[in-house]
Amino acid sequence: MSISFLLNGETVTVADQPATRTLLDWLRDTRRLTGTKEGCNEGDCGACTVMISDDRGHRALNACILFLPQLDGKSITTVEGITGPDGELHPVQEAMIDHHGSQCGFCTPGFIVSMATAHLNGRTDHNDQLAGNLCRCTGYAPIIRAATAAQDKPIPDWLAPISVSKISSGGRPKAGGADSPPAPYQPKTTDDLARWYADHPDATLIAGATDVGLWVTKQHRDLGEIAFLNGIDDMRAITVSDTTIRIGAGATLSDLWPVMATYHPDFAEMIRRYGSVQVRNAATVGGNIANGSPIGDSPPALIALGATLHLRHGDTRRDILLENFFIDYGKQDRAPGEFVEAVSFPRQKDRLKCYKISKRFDQDISAVCGCFNITVQDNRVTGARIAFGGMAGTPKRAHNVEQAIIGQPWGAEAVAGAWDAWAQDFQPLSDMRASATYRLDVARGLLTRYLLEDLGGTTRVLEVRA
Ligand SMILES: Cc1cc2nc3c(=O)[nH]c(=O)nc-3n(C[C@H](O)[C@H](O)[C@H](O)COP(=O)(O)OP(=O)(O)OC[C@H]3O[C@@H](n4cnc5c(N)ncnc54)[C@H](O)[C@@H]3O)c2cc1C
Ligand code: FES
Ligand code: FES
Repeated sequence: MSISFLLNGETVTVADQPATRTLLDWLRDTRRLTGTKEGCNEGDCGACTVMISDDRGHRALNACILFLPQLDGKSITTVEGITGPDGELHPVQEAMIDHHGSQCGFCTPGFIVSMATAHLNGRTDHNDQLAGNLCRCTGYAPIIRAATAAQDKPIPDWLAPISVSKISSGGRPKAGGADSPPAPYQPKTTDDLARWYADHPDATLIAGATDVGLWVTKQHRDLGEIAFLNGIDDMRAITVSDTTIRIGAGATLSDLWPVMATYHPDFAEMIRRYGSVQVRNAATVGGNIANGSPIGDSPPALIALGATLHLRHGDTRRDILLENFFIDYGKQDRAPGEFVEAVSFPRQKDRLKCYKISKRFDQDISAVCGCFNITVQDNRVTGARIAFGGMAGTPKRAHNVEQAIIGQPWGAEAVAGAWDAWAQDFQPLSDMRASATYRLDVARGLLTRYLLEDLGGTTRVLEVRA
């Protein structure tokens, strides 16, 4: 393996590390840059936040679930680089002091990097920008006050010109010497990946590593042969035609947000609650589908929109309905050497509502995620696509409920008439997130909620306000 990147402005080449070495471990153990902290080591707390810059802009990411090869050709700014070369404080650092935003200080470097990245990007939605940073002693009000106080201050000179063009591509040590670890495969195009993966069907594909990262940091798994997909630009494209919206498998949840904000705003609102900024900046739509999780948030929304999954093996492509991809718990319709290339759904009038039910508003896995796409003409239900996560071993459609309401006058009686159908569609489990009874009750309640909102009622309340 031989990669190079900018680290706080300095060009660095790394050739002697395993492909699954995390940026966090490398920064702390090899470079002694210990400002970046380890809290949870699984993407939840933001203590390890670093800023990554490239031709797509500046992003906050969790270094604990970021593997070194994912950084090839990028610029990394750690908390040490947020401060000026002569020790000058960044405006967010000054504001944190002025507003008493730090007590024990363990979380503070992560907050500072998130705040400086948001500042650089001109973001003032501080609650969302900082939802991935946990503080257990100061409390969030002083931190939000500090972010607000700094938001209009100019970007410091030392951060303004971050440029990845400084990275030298020459002079890299050759990979594969006697002491070098095996090189991971880092394709640049989907075609390259297709050829290689057909010949290496047992390899582990790594996209954003928000799942796979934990296989290494928590389960200590040996991933065997690896391909990193984050260098494939053509698999990240999102295209909107007159008839179709097509999302490349490599598009991140952050890439998807503005598109959904335009066409299906409720989907975008659900994405705002998907992990945190750091997680959404890494996690891909392809990974969220391919992992087959029964509680992934994007599959129910995509199924409700009538999505088709585009799979590829070598030069052979096949399209299936996304709902048919999920066969059983842990089992998907994907052959060895076959990968998710894209997912698409028809352009349509926006009737989609997505309800993510979880214990916390931010950064929590869904207990239930219900997505409803119900069409009504002349006050009669003419079509319904209802899909849920958290109600079965896979993301699943509520076919019986759909049939119970189609053709009925759109109102409380149609909703009541579907009561028994819910139990025919779903026999959910009880687990630490919710009981089976709660899940079934909440699913029934969400159809009522959809109806009330459709009739102009207001049901959305944020119990916690900043
Ligand atoms: C702190 C935290 C919070 C989270 N919050 C949420 C949440 O709110 N909602 C939610 O749904 N999920 C959440 N997740 C889970 C995770 O972010 C998602 O499942 C994510 O979309 C996975 O995408 P990735 O690109 O990171 O996948 P990776 O971790 O890179 O890969 C996941 C799996 O998909 C495979 N894969 C990846 N891309 C492809 C492809 N193109 N073709 C075939 N196989 C592929 C990999 O081999 C692997 O098996 C969270 C995770 C963390 C760590
Ligand atoms: S250490 Fe908690 S998110 Fe990385
Ligand atoms: S200041 Fe102690 S955890 Fe935030």
